[in-house]
Amino acid sequence: MAIDDMTRLFKHELGDLLFAEKTFLKGLKAMAKETSNPAIKQRILEHASETEGHIDTLGRAFEAAGLKARATKCDAALGLKEEHDSFKEEEDPTPEILEAFNLGSGLRVEHYEIAGYRSAIVLARALGFSESAALLQQILAQEEAMAKFLEAQAPGALASIAAEVEGEAGAGLETAVEPEVSRSRGQSRPSSTRAASGGATSARR
Ligand SMILES: [Fe+2]
Ligand SMILES: [Fe+2]
Repeated sequence: MAIDDMTRLFKHELGDLLFAEKTFLKGLKAMAKETSNPAIKQRILEHASETEGHIDTLGRAFEAAGLKARATKCDAALGLKEEHDSFKEEEDPTPEILEAFNLGSGLRVEHYEIAGYRSAIVLARALGFSESAALLQQILAQEEAMAKFLEAQAPGALASIAAEVEGEAGAGLETAVEPEVSRSRGQSRPSSTRAASGGATSARR
């Protein structure tokens, strides 16, 4: 059925966010398992429990507008999840590289949520659903705080992951130099030879 009024558009937007929150709740739990940095792991778990609250608060935002809470399939949330899953399956990253990748994945998710809540708040206010807008604002504040946390932690976390990856490459140096001489065609991992010629680039492919 065609959406022909703004309240139904608002209902669709809330349904989309509800679906996204449920998708990201599973994603956060998976990401926590893939994270070894204790501060980031703890914050991800804390945000997972905040996300359970978001699902509940969204239900109240529906009710405050006189609407029945119902999730609507959100292709963008599924796409963000798929991006993580396909990187993991297709690129076969080491745990350290996956952890570095996840910092960017997590930030993309938070920014998607931030854009979604900001849009829904504008719509709620335009429709006079001030209580719904206030509830959505509470969620938005937590999404913004999580995005800020990830942005603040990323430089340090990436530096320590890079040091770890380079340390491992360096440890394999002695045995890696010899195959460099007799390297045959089809040898697939030349990264250790790159470590021999300049440590700073060894983390890159
Ligand atoms: Fe959320
Ligand atoms: Fe979030």
